[in-house]
Amino acid sequence: MTQLQNGSGGSRRAFLRNVGLSGGAGAMFATMGALGLAPTAQAAQRERSFQALRPGDFALTGRAAAKVVIVGGGIAGLAAAYELGKAGYDCTVLEARDRTGGRNFTVRGGDSTTDLYGHRQTARFADGHYMNAGPARLPQWMVTLDYCRELGVPVEVFTNVNADAYLYNESAGMTAPVRYRTAKADVYGYVSELLAKATDKGALDEELTAADRERLVEFLKDYGELGDTLKYEGGERRGYTTVPGAAGTPGVLLGDVPTASEVFASGVGRYFSFEFGFDQAMLMFQPVGGMDQIPKALTRAIGAHRVRTGAVVSDITDTGSGVSVTYTQGSRRRVVNADYCIGALPPNILAKIPHNLGSGVQSALEAITPSSAAKIGLEYRSRWWELDHRIYGGITETDQDVAHIWHPSYGFHGERGIVIGYYNYSANADSYARLTPKEREKRAVAVGVKIYGDKYRTELASSFSHHWRQTPHLEAAWHSTPGGPDDARYKPLNEPTGRVYFAGDWLSYTDAWQHGAFTSARRAVTALHARVLSS
Ligand code: ALA
Repeated sequence: MTQLQNGSGGSRRAFLRNVGLSGGAGAMFATMGALGLAPTAQAAQRERSFQALRPGDFALTGRAAAKVVIVGGGIAGLAAAYELGKAGYDCTVLEARDRTGGRNFTVRGGDSTTDLYGHRQTARFADGHYMNAGPARLPQWMVTLDYCRELGVPVEVFTNVNADAYLYNESAGMTAPVRYRTAKADVYGYVSELLAKATDKGALDEELTAADRERLVEFLKDYGELGDTLKYEGGERRGYTTVPGAAGTPGVLLGDVPTASEVFASGVGRYFSFEFGFDQAMLMFQPVGGMDQIPKALTRAIGAHRVRTGAVVSDITDTGSGVSVTYTQGSRRRVVNADYCIGALPPNILAKIPHNLGSGVQSALEAITPSSAAKIGLEYRSRWWELDHRIYGGITETDQDVAHIWHPSYGFHGERGIVIGYYNYSANADSYARLTPKEREKRAVAVGVKIYGDKYRTELASSFSHHWRQTPHLEAAWHSTPGGPDDARYKPLNEPTGRVYFAGDWLSYTDAWQHGAFTSARRAVTALHARVLSS
């Protein structure tokens, strides 16, 4: 711990400790407020509602900012260093990879990776094109957007749901894709028809008054585009084979309205609840130029001299009066000694690093299990999905092993573009991972051809695939934290007894989102700062 700078700090601290003993923490913080030590009292408040740290926090406390070593230069680690830096903490970030950002990884032409199977790839994407291998979309409510604003990272709309994208369920007998808008019109239409008919036949008489039933049927007629006979018969919501134009061209509606039975058998309805999700509802956003604009901006703000890349941590020791972190960088073994440490690596990696933090920490880390996810970026020499399919961004959903196919939400009307040919999870991600990059491409393209036709193969220029479970130093796309982050077993991580704090999306209620990493980092920083101010 950094030495006190204010000679009167000792007596003030003793007084407060006595208040704390007799009146509890609440009385202690109230007294601090009355003494004009607002910054310290505010630190307690920050536990619940984050307030950025300020150098002025130390003004009346007789303390000074401490030295903190942060293990992991992903979003949680960078956010911790950035926030601590605002109050003058001396932070060192140790990052094992050759870049900061962790799972926030944007692949551009020239970037190389080697996975744990030894597959080496170098991206050949044209200038200006990229794939976000990790996080790729930002809901409006997440703090990630606040950091984009604060750091000057411009954002643009990310199209998460597109009425003109496709749905394709081969296992249900579909031989061609159906557009979202068509599938939605049919599903909502028939569900509305059935509910309206059931209401009309008296099936809801016990649940609803006559006036309610009338209102419900009115709603259903509108919602499902039903005729006066309460029948769904298709309509313009499904789309056109010839779109409406000038006089003489009223448009030709898509024909062949399927029966209710065919619509339910197709299983397309299963995709619609996705867009209701609190974390997936439109509008969504992305940083202009790639998601890694966020870690790049954070790294700049922290100061590149505070971040050591290629630094593989091999030991974390709490000495009682500080923390000693050993790492290797190239062939050199080094040690950082600090007052505190923040462990901001994924738990599955932290669990492999020798430490003296106790069995509670170790078993908590081991209880959190890693998950697989993967993406392949398929670079095309033309934007045939815009030209031939009139799809501008958005996601095609499939029951295939590629799961989701993403159309790019940037570079519209350009010459080339990168389609995410698979964004899949678990066993599908792992089975693609076992293939060579060329075989992954071949398998993913064969699926895409079934949905989009031959250009999915003939227009392909290059590809790059990324599998998080097989990525050195991360070995996970995200994690499962059984019982949730507040489960008692994670207490040693949430309320550390020693000098090592923990942060990561895996310790939040928004696992697999940068928001989780940011909020968890804020929580750790707040607790650490409160301790430094009051110890
Ligand atoms: N947050 C991740 C996604 O949106 C899991 O796909």
